[in-house]
Amino acid sequence: MLVHTINEVREQVKAWKKEGLSVGLVPTMGYLHEGHRSLIEKAVSENDRVVVSVFVNPTQFGPNEDYDDYPRDIEKDYDLCSDAGASLVFNPAPDEMYFPDRCTTVNVEGLSKGLCGAKRPVHFGGVCLVVSKLLNIVTPDRAYFGEKDAQQLAIIKRMVRDLSMDVQIVGCPIVREADGLAKSSRNTYLSADERQAALVLSRSLNKAKAAMEDGMRNASEIYKVISDEIASEPLAKADYIEIVDSETLQPVETVEKDVLVAIAVFVGKTRLIDNFTYRV
Ligand code: PAJ
Repeated sequence: MLVHTINEVREQVKAWKKEGLSVGLVPTMGYLHEGHRSLIEKAVSENDRVVVSVFVNPTQFGPNEDYDDYPRDIEKDYDLCSDAGASLVFNPAPDEMYFPDRCTTVNVEGLSKGLCGAKRPVHFGGVCLVVSKLLNIVTPDRAYFGEKDAQQLAIIKRMVRDLSMDVQIVGCPIVREADGLAKSSRNTYLSADERQAALVLSRSLNKAKAAMEDGMRNASEIYKVISDEIASEPLAKADYIEIVDSETLQPVETVEKDVLVAIAVFVGKTRLIDNFTYRV
């Protein structure tokens, strides 16, 4: 079922809960691909009913970002959700989600400052606001997020803990194309040459992972492995390369605990992200 209003979602979820059914939520911005599908399938395997939200959230885009251009195709998304076993797709209009005079913000200080937050200052405030609202609207038992957006996952886990939200946050592994490129709705922006150049993200991370498996522990050496590889690709320009503690997201000098190695790279005008967690 496809619904557009908060009330319709609440009515349906209430009816399910009355029957004692568990509910999973998969928040998305649509233009769904296999990465989203893996979250939906995991949610379906762990809950009696699954809600997928499809909402290109205006508050998480900066003024010069791609809100207007962000790809949208609700019919195709609805078919993918149904095929993957979701019970309800929630596709609200922006004015269903946001009052013009809203004045509440949700910020996870600290964790939102570095990595993508340093480059996209309003981004995580918008993500936390919309995810809080979705959790309040759907009241799921579990909500599913991809490790593709590792900082987002860490921030949401912290928000749920700090605000005592009664939901389990489930992280799901990155789904990739056969050649290694992490699946992303933004991959559709890439020309054929850029699509080839975009392989530099996974390639540079694989080199870093191999070096770490061979014993490299110094963060600046790991940084150099990645930056040299990105520099070798003329269409690519690194936006950031970070080696951070996987929980606090604070930069480390030496790898002693589990670390998140995360990069953002411009390929042409398109900004892509990728990461891996190295467990010591
Ligand atoms: P979106 O980019 O549509 O992603 C929705 C969910 O799918 C996120 O949890 C993301 O990490 C996950 N995902 C995307 N690509 C993936 C891949 N290749 N492998 C595994 N998981 C993948 O992230 C957002 O939307 C928004 O910020 C949102 C949380 C919906 C708030 O608006």
